[in-house]
Amino acid sequence: MLPLLVIVALLSFGSALVLPWRVSLLPAAHVHLALAMGAMPLIFGAMLHFIPVLTRSGAPAKVLAFLPLAALGAGGMAVYAFVRGDLLSPWLHAAAGLGLVAASFLAAWEMKRGRAMLGDPHPCLHWYVAALACLALALLAVAAMPLWPAERLALKRFHLHLNLLGFIGLTALGTVQVLLPTAAGRFDPKAALRLRRGLPWALAGVVLTAAGAAWWPPLAWLGLASWAGALFPLGRDWLVVYRKELFAWHGAVPSLGLAVLGFGLALAAGAVSSAGAAHLFVLGFLFPLATGAAGQLLPLWLRPGRQTEWHEGVRARLTRWAGARGLLFLAAGLVVLCGGREGFLFAVAGLLHFAVAAAGAVANRACTQ
Ligand code: HEM
Repeated sequence: MLPLLVIVALLSFGSALVLPWRVSLLPAAHVHLALAMGAMPLIFGAMLHFIPVLTRSGAPAKVLAFLPLAALGAGGMAVYAFVRGDLLSPWLHAAAGLGLVAASFLAAWEMKRGRAMLGDPHPCLHWYVAALACLALALLAVAAMPLWPAERLALKRFHLHLNLLGFIGLTALGTVQVLLPTAAGRFDPKAALRLRRGLPWALAGVVLTAAGAAWWPPLAWLGLASWAGALFPLGRDWLVVYRKELFAWHGAVPSLGLAVLGFGLALAAGAVSSAGAAHLFVLGFLFPLATGAAGQLLPLWLRPGRQTEWHEGVRARLTRWAGARGLLFLAAGLVVLCGGREGFLFAVAGLLHFAVAAAGAVANRACTQ
């Protein structure tokens, strides 16, 4: 399931980048192609993969695979409505409803796994539940749009901030703090405490930024300050523990580190230009994050179980030049932020570089069954 979701995400990201050059669609169509059809199902799949690791429990029941598929269906319906250019389409409400049901099921399952554990679950689990709560609230905002037409623009801003900073941001920042030490091969002694202390800051940052962008801008500045309370300790600790790995050309670590830097820059840029910041968020944060994480995890997803030389070899190929690729993505986001459309070409080049390596890994798996 996960390799399939990675492929769907890569195709969605790629088409969302290329389509604006060929056809004229509502911006929401490309945005939802990349984020609702590409990122949302992948995040659901990744959570299903990580929760058993975080709670030291067994693999999820096979039937739960319907959750990423439901998310894909919801994303598909939203894209369909936007491609038709209909912002009042009933498909949008059906999509919001389906997404809400899937998010609620997933959050309930995560909490159940956490409660069933002996002792406290890993604090990353709380980041995932908070992320799904943000997604649910964002989808409720979509449902409220026709009921509260005078507030449509405010609700759209509320929806987009809750989704980008809350659903994607909290999932990503929780996950990288578990994934980066694994990729570096060295334990992070402060990760659990930092995750526990950082969540209230990050969640307050999401809510204040979203409510501020929607209704009262000064709140967004408070939100930014609150985010700093979560991001500074992370940056400081990583620079102490993983400095050598972060400043490398190869491996997943530099890509994941650059993703966190891209997230911080996109947050800061959001205070100045919301359109440019959204592009920086996608190109400078999501792309290095998704390719770095997939570079680390794809070998495991292709061949679950004991780690062998095969996994090491495939991982090394997937993350070769990942530091340079991450810099290319970040540069792409900054160029687009400054108004240069050629930034999109940098991002396409980076994605192609990863896609070729990923296709090689899948072919290698098929040949060595
Ligand atoms: C699948 C259920 C979803 C539905 C039904 C939905 C619906 C909507 C609607 C109605 C808008 C306002 C469009 C406009 O007025 O131009 C919007 C905007 C937006 N949504 Fe969603 N959305 C969904 C999922 C997501 C997800 C999962 C994300 C990100 C992770 C997301 C990110 C955004 C962004 C960034 C915008 C602003 C787009 C722009 O400025 O044109 N949405 N969404």
